[in-house]
Amino acid sequence: MKIVVADNAGFCFGVKQAMNKTLNAIGNNNDKKIYTYGPLIHNNQVIERLESQGVSSVENIQDAKDSTVIIRSHGVPLKIYDLAHGYNIDVIDATCPFVRKVQKIAKEYYDRGYTIVIIGNPKHPEVMGINGWCNHSASIVQGPEDVNDISKFDKICVVAQTTITMDLWTDVIGKLQERANILETFNTICTATKERQTSCADVSKQVDAMIIIGGYHSSNTQKLLQISKKYCKNTYHIETAEEVPIADISGFKKIGVTAGASTPDWIIKEAIKRMDNMEQEQNEMMNMMEEIEN
Ligand code: F3S
Repeated sequence: MKIVVADNAGFCFGVKQAMNKTLNAIGNNNDKKIYTYGPLIHNNQVIERLESQGVSSVENIQDAKDSTVIIRSHGVPLKIYDLAHGYNIDVIDATCPFVRKVQKIAKEYYDRGYTIVIIGNPKHPEVMGINGWCNHSASIVQGPEDVNDISKFDKICVVAQTTITMDLWTDVIGKLQERANILETFNTICTATKERQTSCADVSKQVDAMIIIGGYHSSNTQKLLQISKKYCKNTYHIETAEEVPIADISGFKKIGVTAGASTPDWIIKEAIKRMDNMEQEQNEMMNMMEEIEN
Protein backbone atom coordinates (compact mmCIF):
# COMPACT_ATOMS: atom_id res chain seq x y z
CA MET A 1 0.00 0.00 0.00
CA LYS A 2 1.25 3.47 -0.87
CA ILE A 3 0.43 6.44 1.36
CA VAL A 4 0.41 9.89 -0.26
CA VAL A 5 0.38 12.83 2.15
CA ALA A 6 -0.92 16.15 0.79
CA ASP A 7 1.70 18.91 0.54
CA ASN A 8 -0.22 21.34 2.71
CA ALA A 9 -1.74 19.54 5.65
CA GLY A 10 -2.17 20.34 9.33
CA PHE A 11 -1.54 23.47 11.39
CA CYS A 12 -1.80 26.68 9.39
CA PHE A 13 0.07 29.88 10.11
CA GLY A 14 -2.79 31.36 12.18
CA VAL A 15 -3.23 28.29 14.36
CA LYS A 16 0.53 27.98 14.91
CA GLN A 17 0.59 31.60 16.05
CA ALA A 18 -2.31 31.03 18.46
CA MET A 19 -0.65 27.90 19.87
CA ASN A 20 2.70 29.70 20.33
CA LYS A 21 1.08 32.65 22.06
CA THR A 22 -0.77 30.28 24.39
CA LEU A 23 2.33 28.23 25.23
CA ASN A 24 4.29 31.45 25.88
CA ALA A 25 1.50 32.66 28.18
CA ILE A 26 1.68 29.38 30.11
CA GLY A 27 5.48 29.71 30.34
CA ASN A 28 5.41 33.36 31.50
CA ASN A 29 2.44 32.96 33.82
CA ASN A 30 2.33 35.45 36.68
CA ASP A 31 -0.27 33.61 38.78
CA LYS A 32 -3.19 34.96 36.79
CA LYS A 33 -5.59 32.32 35.58
CA ILE A 34 -5.37 31.86 31.80
CA TYR A 35 -8.50 31.38 29.71
CA THR A 36 -9.13 31.17 26.01
CA TYR A 37 -12.23 32.92 24.69
CA GLY A 38 -13.92 29.82 23.32
CA PRO A 39 -11.88 26.63 22.64
CA LEU A 40 -8.49 27.69 21.20
CA ILE A 41 -8.81 25.44 18.15
CA HIS A 42 -11.30 22.86 16.92
CA ASN A 43 -9.28 19.90 18.06
CA ASN A 44 -10.31 17.99 21.19
CA GLN A 45 -6.90 16.40 21.75
CA VAL A 46 -5.12 19.77 21.82
CA ILE A 47 -7.80 21.23 24.10
CA GLU A 48 -7.35 18.34 26.55
CA ARG A 49 -3.58 18.95 26.61
CA LEU A 50 -4.10 22.67 27.31
CA GLU A 51 -6.59 21.90 30.07
CA SER A 52 -4.02 19.64 31.72
CA GLN A 53 -1.74 22.72 31.79
CA GLY A 54 -4.40 24.83 33.50
CA VAL A 55 -5.82 26.65 30.46
CA SER A 56 -9.58 26.44 30.15
CA SER A 57 -12.05 28.27 27.96
CA VAL A 58 -14.86 30.72 28.75
CA GLU A 59 -17.87 31.52 26.59
CA ASN A 60 -18.69 34.82 28.36
CA ILE A 61 -16.00 37.41 28.86
CA GLN A 62 -17.44 38.43 32.25
CA ASP A 63 -16.56 34.94 33.54
CA ALA A 64 -12.86 35.77 33.14
CA LYS A 65 -12.62 38.86 35.40
CA ASP A 66 -9.07 39.75 36.57
CA SER A 67 -7.49 37.01 34.47
CA THR A 68 -5.58 36.62 31.20
CA VAL A 69 -7.69 35.86 28.14
CA ILE A 70 -6.34 34.59 24.83
CA ILE A 71 -8.38 35.57 21.80
CA ARG A 72 -8.18 32.67 19.36
CA SER A 73 -7.36 32.89 15.66
CA HIS A 74 -11.07 33.21 14.76
CA GLY A 75 -11.17 36.69 16.32
CA VAL A 76 -14.00 38.33 18.30
CA PRO A 77 -16.53 41.15 17.89
CA LEU A 78 -14.99 44.60 18.40
CA LYS A 79 -16.89 45.29 21.63
CA ILE A 80 -15.17 42.36 23.39
CA TYR A 81 -11.94 44.38 23.68
CA ASP A 82 -13.73 47.14 25.62
CA LEU A 83 -15.56 44.65 27.81
CA ALA A 84 -12.29 42.86 28.60
CA HIS A 85 -10.68 46.16 29.59
CA GLY A 86 -13.64 46.91 31.91
CA TYR A 87 -13.25 43.52 33.63
CA ASN A 88 -9.51 44.04 34.25
CA ILE A 89 -8.56 41.31 31.82
CA ASP A 90 -5.13 41.07 30.17
CA VAL A 91 -5.84 40.30 26.54
CA ILE A 92 -3.44 38.23 24.44
CA ASP A 93 -4.72 38.71 20.91
CA ALA A 94 -4.11 35.72 18.62
CA THR A 95 -6.58 36.81 15.94
CA CYS A 96 -5.15 35.51 12.66
CA PRO A 97 -3.95 38.41 10.47
CA PHE A 98 -6.09 37.05 7.61
CA VAL A 99 -9.18 37.30 9.83
CA ARG A 100 -8.18 40.76 11.05
CA LYS A 101 -8.09 41.89 7.44
CA VAL A 102 -11.72 40.76 6.95
CA GLN A 103 -12.80 42.46 10.18
CA LYS A 104 -11.21 45.73 9.06
CA ILE A 105 -12.88 45.59 5.63
CA ALA A 106 -16.28 44.96 7.29
CA LYS A 107 -15.78 47.93 9.62
CA GLU A 108 -14.47 50.31 6.97
CA TYR A 109 -17.28 49.62 4.48
CA TYR A 110 -19.98 49.59 7.16
CA ASP A 111 -18.75 53.04 8.28
CA ARG A 112 -18.96 54.17 4.62
CA GLY A 113 -22.63 53.19 4.41
CA TYR A 114 -22.35 49.83 2.68
CA THR A 115 -24.48 46.80 3.56
CA ILE A 116 -22.08 44.04 4.53
CA VAL A 117 -22.61 40.51 3.21
CA ILE A 118 -20.52 37.70 4.69
CA ILE A 119 -20.38 34.40 2.80
CA GLY A 120 -19.99 31.73 5.46
CA ASN A 121 -21.56 29.86 8.33
CA PRO A 122 -23.56 32.20 10.60
CA LYS A 123 -22.85 29.99 13.62
CA HIS A 124 -19.08 29.92 13.12
CA PRO A 125 -17.17 32.08 15.64
CA GLU A 126 -15.12 33.73 12.89
CA VAL A 127 -18.28 34.88 11.10
CA MET A 128 -19.91 36.01 14.35
CA GLY A 129 -16.71 37.93 15.14
CA ILE A 130 -16.61 39.66 11.73
CA ASN A 131 -20.27 40.60 12.11
CA GLY A 132 -19.33 42.26 15.37
CA TRP A 133 -17.12 44.73 13.43
CA CYS A 134 -20.12 46.05 11.47
CA ASN A 135 -22.54 46.45 14.37
CA HIS A 136 -23.96 42.93 13.84
CA SER A 137 -25.76 44.21 10.76
CA ALA A 138 -24.35 41.84 8.13
CA SER A 139 -26.43 39.57 5.94
CA ILE A 140 -24.83 36.14 6.18
CA VAL A 141 -25.27 33.77 3.25
CA GLN A 142 -24.31 30.13 3.22
CA GLY A 143 -25.09 29.44 -0.44
CA PRO A 144 -26.51 31.00 -3.63
CA GLU A 145 -30.05 30.06 -2.55
CA ASP A 146 -29.77 32.44 0.45
CA VAL A 147 -29.20 35.40 -1.89
CA ASN A 148 -32.92 35.39 -2.73
CA ASP A 149 -33.62 36.50 0.86
CA ILE A 150 -31.44 39.59 0.52
CA SER A 151 -33.18 42.86 -0.35
CA LYS A 152 -31.79 45.07 -3.07
CA PHE A 153 -29.35 47.64 -1.66
CA ASP A 154 -27.57 50.58 -3.22
CA LYS A 155 -24.11 49.56 -2.01
CA ILE A 156 -23.05 46.08 -0.92
CA CYS A 157 -19.63 44.98 0.30
CA VAL A 158 -19.02 41.22 0.24
CA VAL A 159 -16.41 39.36 2.27
CA ALA A 160 -15.85 35.64 2.82
CA GLN A 161 -15.27 33.48 5.85
CA THR A 162 -11.60 32.62 5.37
CA THR A 163 -12.23 28.88 4.99
CA ILE A 164 -14.98 28.71 2.34
CA THR A 165 -14.38 27.11 -1.06
CA MET A 166 -13.71 29.05 -4.26
CA ASP A 167 -16.76 27.36 -5.82
CA LEU A 168 -19.04 28.77 -3.13
CA TRP A 169 -17.50 32.23 -3.48
CA THR A 170 -18.01 32.25 -7.27
CA ASP A 171 -21.59 30.95 -7.07
CA VAL A 172 -22.70 33.52 -4.50
CA ILE A 173 -20.96 36.49 -6.15
CA GLY A 174 -22.64 35.55 -9.44
CA LYS A 175 -26.06 35.83 -7.84
CA LEU A 176 -25.29 38.95 -5.81
CA GLN A 177 -24.61 41.02 -8.95
CA GLU A 178 -28.37 41.66 -9.28
CA ARG A 179 -28.76 42.82 -5.70
CA ALA A 180 -26.79 46.07 -5.65
CA ASN A 181 -26.04 49.13 -7.73
CA ILE A 182 -22.49 49.10 -6.40
CA LEU A 183 -21.00 45.75 -5.45
CA GLU A 184 -17.55 45.73 -3.79
CA THR A 185 -16.18 42.21 -3.44
CA PHE A 186 -13.24 41.07 -1.32
CA ASN A 187 -12.31 37.45 -1.75
CA THR A 188 -10.92 36.91 1.74
CA ILE A 189 -10.41 33.15 1.52
CA CYS A 190 -6.98 32.81 3.14
CA THR A 191 -3.89 31.49 1.39
CA ALA A 192 -3.52 28.57 3.79
CA THR A 193 -7.08 27.46 3.02
CA LYS A 194 -6.55 27.74 -0.73
CA GLU A 195 -3.31 25.75 -0.54
CA ARG A 196 -4.89 23.01 1.62
CA GLN A 197 -7.91 22.73 -0.65
CA THR A 198 -5.79 22.59 -3.83
CA SER A 199 -3.45 19.92 -2.38
CA CYS A 200 -6.47 17.94 -1.14
CA ALA A 201 -8.03 17.99 -4.62
CA ASP A 202 -4.70 16.99 -6.25
CA VAL A 203 -4.19 14.00 -3.96
CA SER A 204 -7.83 12.84 -3.92
CA LYS A 205 -7.80 12.61 -7.74
CA GLN A 206 -4.97 10.05 -7.72
CA VAL A 207 -5.80 7.69 -4.83
CA ASP A 208 -8.24 4.88 -4.07
CA ALA A 209 -9.19 6.22 -0.66
CA MET A 210 -8.70 9.48 1.26
CA ILE A 211 -8.30 9.97 4.98
CA ILE A 212 -9.14 13.49 6.18
CA ILE A 213 -7.88 14.14 9.69
CA GLY A 214 -9.40 16.96 11.71
CA GLY A 215 -11.89 18.00 14.37
CA TYR A 216 -15.49 17.08 13.66
CA HIS A 217 -16.44 20.73 14.32
CA SER A 218 -13.64 22.20 12.24
CA SER A 219 -14.99 24.24 9.36
CA ASN A 220 -11.90 23.97 7.17
CA THR A 221 -11.77 20.19 7.71
CA GLN A 222 -15.40 19.92 6.56
CA LYS A 223 -14.45 21.78 3.37
CA LEU A 224 -11.56 19.36 2.73
CA LEU A 225 -14.05 16.55 3.15
CA GLN A 226 -16.41 18.08 0.56
CA ILE A 227 -13.56 18.57 -1.94
CA SER A 228 -12.19 15.09 -1.45
CA LYS A 229 -15.63 13.46 -1.89
CA LYS A 230 -15.92 15.22 -5.23
CA TYR A 231 -12.94 13.25 -6.61
CA CYS A 232 -12.70 10.17 -4.40
CA LYS A 233 -15.78 8.29 -3.27
CA ASN A 234 -13.89 6.42 -0.55
CA THR A 235 -13.31 9.44 1.68
CA TYR A 236 -13.15 9.01 5.47
CA HIS A 237 -13.12 11.70 8.16
CA ILE A 238 -11.29 10.86 11.38
CA GLU A 239 -10.26 12.92 14.40
CA THR A 240 -7.64 10.67 15.96
CA ALA A 241 -5.25 7.92 14.86
CA GLU A 242 -7.39 5.34 16.69
CA GLU A 243 -10.19 6.09 14.24
CA VAL A 244 -8.26 5.07 11.09
CA PRO A 245 -10.86 2.79 9.41
CA ILE A 246 -8.52 -0.16 9.07
CA ALA A 247 -11.19 -2.65 7.88
CA ASP A 248 -12.51 -0.25 5.21
CA ILE A 249 -9.18 0.76 3.71
CA SER A 250 -7.18 -2.45 3.96
CA GLY A 251 -8.03 -3.48 0.38
CA PHE A 252 -6.84 -0.24 -1.26
CA LYS A 253 -3.48 0.16 -3.00
CA LYS A 254 -3.03 3.93 -2.78
CA ILE A 255 -4.31 6.01 0.14
CA GLY A 256 -4.20 9.78 0.44
CA VAL A 257 -3.94 11.70 3.68
CA THR A 258 -4.62 15.30 4.48
CA ALA A 259 -5.51 17.25 7.61
CA GLY A 260 -7.35 20.39 8.58
CA ALA A 261 -5.60 23.57 9.71
CA SER A 262 -6.16 22.76 13.39
CA THR A 263 -4.73 19.24 13.30
CA PRO A 264 -1.34 18.94 15.04
CA ASP A 265 1.53 17.07 13.35
CA TRP A 266 1.62 14.40 16.04
CA ILE A 267 -1.91 13.25 15.19
CA ILE A 268 -1.07 13.09 11.45
CA LYS A 269 2.11 11.09 12.22
CA GLU A 270 0.23 8.69 14.52
CA ALA A 271 -2.43 8.07 11.86
CA ILE A 272 0.21 7.37 9.18
CA LYS A 273 2.05 5.07 11.58
CA ARG A 274 -1.17 3.10 12.15
CA MET A 275 -1.60 2.70 8.40
CA ASP A 276 2.02 1.57 8.02
CA ASN A 277 1.55 -0.95 10.83
CA MET A 278 -1.65 -2.12 9.20
CA GLU A 279 0.32 -2.94 6.07
CA GLN A 280 2.94 -4.80 8.09
CA GLU A 281 0.21 -6.76 9.90
CA GLN A 282 -1.39 -7.63 6.57
CA ASN A 283 1.91 -8.83 5.12
CA GLU A 284 2.52 -10.98 8.20
CA MET A 285 -0.98 -12.40 7.87
CA MET A 286 -0.43 -13.17 4.16
CA ASN A 287 2.88 -14.89 4.94
CA MET A 288 1.19 -16.93 7.65
CA MET A 289 -1.61 -17.96 5.28
CA GLU A 290 0.91 -18.97 2.63
CA GLU A 291 2.86 -21.05 5.16
CA ILE A 292 -0.35 -22.79 6.28
CA GLU A 293 -1.34 -23.51 2.65
CA ASN A 294 2.10 -24.94 1.86
FE1 F3S B 1 -5.72 32.11 9.57
FE2 F3S B 1 -6.34 30.86 7.39
FE3 F3S B 1 -5.48 29.53 9.43
S1 F3S B 1 -7.45 32.53 8.30
S2 F3S B 1 -6.23 30.68 11.14
S3 F3S B 1 -4.29 31.02 8.27
S4 F3S B 1 -7.04 28.84 8.02
